[in-house]
Amino acid sequence: MSANVDGFTLWFTGLSGSGKTTLARQVWRELRARGLKVEVLDGDVVRQNLSKGLGFSKEDRDTNIRRIGFVCNLLSRNGVIAIAAAISPYRAVRDEVRASQDTGRFVEVFLDCPIELLMKRDVKGLYQKALTGKVENFTGISDPYEPPENPEIVLHTDQETEEQSMAKILAWLEERGYVPPYHDHAPERACP
Ligand code: ADX
Repeated sequence: MSANVDGFTLWFTGLSGSGKTTLARQVWRELRARGLKVEVLDGDVVRQNLSKGLGFSKEDRDTNIRRIGFVCNLLSRNGVIAIAAAISPYRAVRDEVRASQDTGRFVEVFLDCPIELLMKRDVKGLYQKALTGKVENFTGISDPYEPPENPEIVLHTDQETEEQSMAKILAWLEERGYVPPYHDHAPERACP
């Protein structure tokens, strides 16, 4: 059964490896399980289709983010919760996307995690490649990352568990009426 809510855009921004994809998927799964219509636009996936061929220059990144923002707008104005998970390193284009959303409902989630930790974890091995010059224009190493100045939600993914970060997002959305409050009812006992 699907419930109807007004659409909005939930926009994850943060360095590579900060947890955007993981959290976006978890929120997607949770909201879907609650019967809501929800879609994820993940930078890595979008770059294989909608943004295929784009690189990592400022111009290409801005184009990528504008495309993701464009699709988020189409979805959210039709009652879908659109979740974006892309580094989106430039503040100005994030703010442009925010301003372009017809619903006026844009929730920026900043995944704040020290780069030293990300370099140590280096799940994809890209930080090592960036440090040795095998990958160029790498965000946080040889390319800028501009943190949001007034994000709706800040997650400290080095200090919080995934569950805690999830709980923060869901609480924010529920408290402001973006998604209905959720009570995990035990199934009603059938009358004998
Ligand atoms: S964005 O800057 O345009 O928002 P996006 O989130 O779509 O970036 O893609 C980032 C992903 O591309 C990273 O998670 C990483 O896997 C890969 N990648 C490859 N080269 C780079 C680079 N130079 N800088 C950042 N990410 C890169």
